[in-house]
Amino acid sequence: MASTEDMYMGGLYQRFPVTVDRGEGALVWDDSGREYIDCMAGYGVALLGHCNRRVTDAITTQIGRIITVHSSLYNKTREEFLEKLIGLAPDGLEQVHLNNSGAESVEAAIKFAKKYTGRKKMIAMKGSYHGKSLGALSITFGPKYRRPFAPLIEGAEFVPFGNGAALDEAVDTDTAFVIIEPVQGESGIHVPPPEFLREAREICDRSGALLVFDEIQAGLGRTGRLWAQQHWGVTPDILCLAKGIAGGVPMGATLAKPEIIGAMSKGEHSSTFGGNPLSCAAGSATLDALTQDGLVENSAAMGAVFADGLEELKRKYPNMIREVRGRGLMIGVEIKYDVRGILYGLIKKGILMLYSGRNVLRILPPLVVTARQAAKVLDALDAVLSEESEKTGTRRGGSNMGRT
Ligand SMILES: Cc1ncc(COP(=O)(O)O)c(C=O)c1O
Repeated sequence: MASTEDMYMGGLYQRFPVTVDRGEGALVWDDSGREYIDCMAGYGVALLGHCNRRVTDAITTQIGRIITVHSSLYNKTREEFLEKLIGLAPDGLEQVHLNNSGAESVEAAIKFAKKYTGRKKMIAMKGSYHGKSLGALSITFGPKYRRPFAPLIEGAEFVPFGNGAALDEAVDTDTAFVIIEPVQGESGIHVPPPEFLREAREICDRSGALLVFDEIQAGLGRTGRLWAQQHWGVTPDILCLAKGIAGGVPMGATLAKPEIIGAMSKGEHSSTFGGNPLSCAAGSATLDALTQDGLVENSAAMGAVFADGLEELKRKYPNMIREVRGRGLMIGVEIKYDVRGILYGLIKKGILMLYSGRNVLRILPPLVVTARQAAKVLDALDAVLSEESEKTGTRRGGSNMGRT
């Protein structure tokens, strides 16, 4: 489907042939009125679903009052949001820099950690994704993203996700920080072994390096807990947030211990749009929805519905599904071959779903998704897997396609 958008935007994005016109809850409609269950949710941004009333009301009210107030002036909407955010933040994270995206949140974390420690080395995980601005890119694993833009920030090293011994070996007295996604997103939804985050905490404490958690995708209820780190009871020194934090309005937030932001001098970091009242109003409404409307609980409950259904599909299609992974509504289904045909088949059945790399289906529905909608997604996936396996003869004992 070629469109005028392609003409003007060029070919930077992998696109699906759907023109989304409007949305409500976990549903979106295209420009011909066709309905879809949205398991992409804007790459996880639409945590609350589309057009959540709390958010639309807050934005509408704020637009009529004032949209922009730079952080060099005070603003009550911003103050209210900061109080709510820090009130919910993991222990010790009492200050925050507001910015506008995930990459910007990570950029701030890099600068804060380097300034506070006075050190140069940055340790990230293999399979990590922290964004595509040059600083965030330096600690994003995918060589195909990094190589064309070298040299990036020097001092980055990648260790296998989940390997405490390798991390221990890599970290030394020149390490400024270790950055970890508690559940890796872009590389295919990977959950660490139970002891890994605690080991990382101990290694950082021993060496004086800061521990940074990137919960840009996994945070704010996505995994069935408000913070993904709660699954392992480990808190970081810096926490990066973005995506759904302001109900779809752009916002990033870099939370840190006060002494870390305190090590920065005035003007050493700033953002023109960061902390604007429009996104702060949406942010307050988002936090209210997450904490008062049972969405985190629903994420855990619907996550279990998906997990059970997907495990059943794995038993039914053992030659197609290799593994089901994730926590809450951050789910990866590793397929034994390219998932493109499945994604297009799902679109025909009214389901929008994501991929992670070539062979992982990524399911990131809004946290308001219902049991009925989850059942529809699972039925559609069953039907598409059946069609695909018929095409290729891979169902139960059928021949392996040799494309794994
Ligand atoms: C874990 C993680 N960190 C950082 C980013 C970058 O966020 P943005 O695209 O808003 O810059 C993403 C985006 O997918 C992400 O999933």
